[in-house]
Amino acid sequence: MNKIAVLTSGGDAPGMNACVRAVVRTANHFKMEVVGVRRGYQGMIENDMTILSPNDVSNIIHRGGTVLKTARSPEFMKREGRERAYHNLLDNGVEALVVIGGDGSFKGALALQDEFGLPVIGIPGTIDNDLYGTEATIGYDTAVNNVVTAVDKIRDTADSHNRLFFVEVMGRDAGFIALRSGIACGAEAVLIPETETYDNVLMDRLQNGWNREKSSAIIIVAEGDDSGGAHKLAEKVKQRFPHFDTKVTILGHIQRGGSPSAYDRVLASELGSWAVRTIRRGTTGVMIGRSGGKAMEIPLSKAVKHNRSINRSLEELVYWLSE
Ligand code: F6P
Repeated sequence: MNKIAVLTSGGDAPGMNACVRAVVRTANHFKMEVVGVRRGYQGMIENDMTILSPNDVSNIIHRGGTVLKTARSPEFMKREGRERAYHNLLDNGVEALVVIGGDGSFKGALALQDEFGLPVIGIPGTIDNDLYGTEATIGYDTAVNNVVTAVDKIRDTADSHNRLFFVEVMGRDAGFIALRSGIACGAEAVLIPETETYDNVLMDRLQNGWNREKSSAIIIVAEGDDSGGAHKLAEKVKQRFPHFDTKVTILGHIQRGGSPSAYDRVLASELGSWAVRTIRRGTTGVMIGRSGGKAMEIPLSKAVKHNRSINRSLEELVYWLSE
């Protein structure tokens, strides 16, 4: 194997750059060349590729976002798009592909492998942490820390004014960010897509807090929660408890930005380097994840088929610790 390609796809995640760097530098160690594909699968279709030398990835380990850029590509969903993308890879002499992204990005990689026999390796890069088969995804730790930093500030004003804050965090389909940051922030409640939200349970909890003269409260709501989001919940609570001073903060894309945490940089470096070594061994169709603190491989088909389950005991912990 002499030449491989790397791309970042789906939502950007802090640590993706550290991972690209690890792929390029490890490949260089083994005298392999790396082609960087810009703008994910869309760039592959448009032949937007460049050779990445070890110097090209200097000074990116600490940068958020992705220097390769990322895009969503409806064209790649169609067979003609994938065919064009594959032929561009061939024209550039690429023999295998490393995809850094989430579930949708891995499905794209699998399609290239199944339809054209291209060897592919996936690396979990998403702030959502919702991939089966790995205990961590690149970007998740930084995103949780971003939420905690923001909510600590919100807590100061919540406490000063005796306010009830609904803070909406990212996670269209998954509550991992909400749950972990909720515990780290000492939230009164965490509402996530994986668990049905019962208004009466939430109202009772708020009433209990009020009875105990709790002066402020933070409720973390994942954007995909079945309650319909922080604004809707805040309205319902206001109707039931007009005496509560309710406020809503939507954290939005601020969660995805900024310099990656040390944890994410190390994870990204380890997984990126492992991916190149896996390709050299001739393995294809696997995701490089982390389990028991070590890098490991699981079939991509398994990673995209299963949903990662939420740790229920952490949900319970939120409530116990806020009583
Ligand atoms: O998948 C990562 C994620 O940040 C989700 O948590 C969020 O719902 C989504 O991306 C937002 O996507 P976009 O940046 O395209 O609006």
